[in-house]
Amino acid sequence: MSFTVYVPRDASALSLGAEAVAVAIAEQAERRGLDIAIVRNGSRGMFWLEPLVEVVTPAGRVAYGPVQPDDVTALFDADFLHGGAHALALGPTEDIAYLKNQQRLTFARVGIVDPRSLDDYLAHGGYRGLDAALRMSEAEIVQTVTDSGLRGRGGAAFPTGIKWKTCLDVKAVQKYVACNADEGDSGTYADRMIMEGDPFVLIEGMTIAGIAVGATRGYIYLRVEYPHAHRALNAAIAIAEANGYLGDDVRGSGKAFHLEVRLGGGAYICGEETSMLESLEGKRGQVRVKPPLPAIHGLFGKPTVINNVVTFASVPVILDQGAAFYRDYGSGRSRGTLPIQLAGNLKRPGLVERAFGLSLRELIEGYGGGTASGRPVRAVQVGGPLGAYIPASQLDAPIDYEGFAAIGGMLGHGGVVVFDDTVNMAAQARYAMEFCAIESCGKCTPCRIGSTRGVEVIDRLLASDNAGRQRDEVLLRDLCQTMVAGSLCALGGMAPFPVLSALDHFHEDFAGSAEPVN
Ligand SMILES: Cc1cc2nc3c(=O)[nH]c(=O)nc-3n(C[C@H](O)[C@H](O)[C@H](O)COP(=O)(O)O)c2cc1C
Ligand code: SF4
Repeated sequence: MSFTVYVPRDASALSLGAEAVAVAIAEQAERRGLDIAIVRNGSRGMFWLEPLVEVVTPAGRVAYGPVQPDDVTALFDADFLHGGAHALALGPTEDIAYLKNQQRLTFARVGIVDPRSLDDYLAHGGYRGLDAALRMSEAEIVQTVTDSGLRGRGGAAFPTGIKWKTCLDVKAVQKYVACNADEGDSGTYADRMIMEGDPFVLIEGMTIAGIAVGATRGYIYLRVEYPHAHRALNAAIAIAEANGYLGDDVRGSGKAFHLEVRLGGGAYICGEETSMLESLEGKRGQVRVKPPLPAIHGLFGKPTVINNVVTFASVPVILDQGAAFYRDYGSGRSRGTLPIQLAGNLKRPGLVERAFGLSLRELIEGYGGGTASGRPVRAVQVGGPLGAYIPASQLDAPIDYEGFAAIGGMLGHGGVVVFDDTVNMAAQARYAMEFCAIESCGKCTPCRIGSTRGVEVIDRLLASDNAGRQRDEVLLRDLCQTMVAGSLCALGGMAPFPVLSALDHFHEDFAGSAEPVN
């Protein structure tokens, strides 16, 4: 009898010893004369349980975790290959509440399929979206994406269909599709999980985009710190090419789409779309002035659709199930689902894909299980290093683009970083300003000079007596307003938000008076 065992090859699981666990399972099976197939899947996104080992049983997949190499002999003794009882047994994987209470559309296959198997992808509904797209006209594909309400998941939340239509409407001999896989925001990893766990869904989404706008060539701009994703993507691209899903004649349609991975330059600003284009062209990553929009004048001066990994990966399900299916999830003008990445001081960090509309409290207390330290939550930073610090009193804010903007926040790429009450928010404010000073591309003055002066003012403010503190706070707020109003891109334009939110909500950490100066 043959057994199938899943051991993730996702970077998070590997960092916790998954490779050694896979080796130990193979050795133990050989010693016992058991015939097993080990599938290296992506992560289910429950990091406190990694390495999470799953076994296929007649009743479905059964999970054990977190498994270390030392546990393997005992797992075999407990007959885990038949789902036997053991202290690390978690029961049927799909019944684990964290997973069961999600709405996984974009992540439907992550952790389930073998990322290197096209057959597995097809068996789980893969490429149905592309087949549907190939039966439509270009304009119908774009209309479907528009009707779904999908907005960019990379940060700016711009409507994807409108961007695609702009590119479709431009006449050009060559157009491009570029995927932003720079994933620079603190506490985010959804792009990485997709690329490592279900790379075909990204390839499919980009192929649909290419066919929709008439682009024959695509690039995935991948951050250099993701070697596992790089390998997974290259392997999947080669398989897709060999099987006619990429190349000169996609699925016999007569339409061409070629795809390559390019490694990033290693700077946060290379994730800003115009810097990304510069970097893709082999230049230093520096922001371009807009307009012209990349959809009209993008890579090598040609019309280019740029989207985030999660955005592209959400397209196949929309084409397969229809715009209305996707649009039915969500709230207000935030349609569909958001893969939220829980990080920071939490008992149960991980990936939670849910329709827009749930509250931060539901996420942090329900899924995250509260802080790992057991202390009260003091602040939450949502949307990466440029996101405001949200105080515990605002945890009931709904997770949707407009709801978050109403409390001065932004969802960005969906990263949620939790801090307990031991955090010093003045130090966090200084860190945010320093981050901007270090990562500024230098193109515009408010950001290049302002961020450096900002760090100096914060340092002086923290060291001043009461009168000096008040004067420096006025100066700091003024400087922040100048950066917001005058910066060329959102790095300088949003870096003040964490600083101002720390001043507004956690003023006592700036020593002295608890009253913010307005
Ligand atoms: C400083 C800065 C960094 C950014 N980093 C990323 C990133 O790492 N990944 C990403 O997809 N978008 C990033 N963006 C947003 C992109 O500029 C762009 O809006 C996005 O790639 C468009 O794709 P979408 O519409 O699918 O979100 C960044 C923006 C700024 C200003
Ligand atoms: S705001 Fe900063 S990162 Fe953006 S263009 Fe200006 S200097 Fe460059």
